[in-house]
Amino acid sequence: MSEKKLTIGLLTSGGDAPGMNAAIRAVVRTADNYGCEVKGIMRGYAGLLEEDFCVLDTKSVADIIQRGGTILYTARSRSMHLLETQKKAAEICRKNGIDALVVIGGDGSYRGALALSKQGINVMGVPGTIDLDIGCTDYTIGFDTSINTVTESIDKLRDTSASHERCVIVEVMGRSAGYIALWCGIAGGAEEIILPEKYDYNEQAIIDSLTERRKHGKNHHIIVNAEGIGHSASLAARIEAATGIETRATILGYMQRGGSPTCKDRVYASAMGAKAVELIVEGKRNRAVCHMNGEFTDEDLETAINMTKTLPDDLVRLSKTLIRQRNI
Ligand code: F6P
Repeated sequence: MSEKKLTIGLLTSGGDAPGMNAAIRAVVRTADNYGCEVKGIMRGYAGLLEEDFCVLDTKSVADIIQRGGTILYTARSRSMHLLETQKKAAEICRKNGIDALVVIGGDGSYRGALALSKQGINVMGVPGTIDLDIGCTDYTIGFDTSINTVTESIDKLRDTSASHERCVIVEVMGRSAGYIALWCGIAGGAEEIILPEKYDYNEQAIIDSLTERRKHGKNHHIIVNAEGIGHSASLAARIEAATGIETRATILGYMQRGGSPTCKDRVYASAMGAKAVELIVEGKRNRAVCHMNGEFTDEDLETAINMTKTLPDDLVRLSKTLIRQRNI
């Protein structure tokens, strides 16, 4: 008698991120190679609770590696923090013969995954978030595409702010994490990068520095402000009032989550999706797929969720060193 095929449930949850489709494709095709079946779950945990499934096979994931967003749709399921809901979700997995569940998403999605693992479901986390704020990994799906989108936007804003001799405040996503702000602040040559992790509430220092740079001949300015600080429009108004420099705020918003994934996001997302399936086939339970020190690895899901991550000090120092001179 042939062995029973493993059935893998697959969902994307939380904010979408470019590269999620590449990960979906890799899960499905790797599973196919191992003779496993994949049930796609629509709209994250919300779809799981509604038993909104679809069959995913090698053919159905053709022509998606280059597409942003997620073909499975996504949602933030508020009710997943309730024990009753977690039990119901686990029961639905069992009823539908799901032997293991792959969850592609960020920290909130990982918490849902952990809750399901406590209800006996074998869950694999694949880090999908533009925010890069998952402790166990130095790479998350979508970050690379997002920072390239933001950098291109900052370049465009530089053109117009230079022409008008203005100051521009660019607000970037990242919830309460400053990774996008830090990377894009450096890449975009910003004079100030306001990071939630390092915020010292010293607005006067920003005003003084702008005034000083103006005096020394700098005629346009870029400030990158992280979403976690926010209030860019009122900050712009205060800077303009205090310095006399025309200041505009641009909130980049959801465009940062869209677009065709970069080569890096496609390749890393593919490797991570495949790794999740390999872990299942090897009989591992409740792991988070990670990328650390140049390797794709895995970590216990609960340990991964409890790991904290801080902004790299060397990059924070670099961002300050490169803008120390007053007249550039
Ligand atoms: O987690 C990704 C992210 O884009 C954050 O940077 C942002 O704070 C949040 O999602 C926005 O979430 P929503 O799509 O629910 O408005």
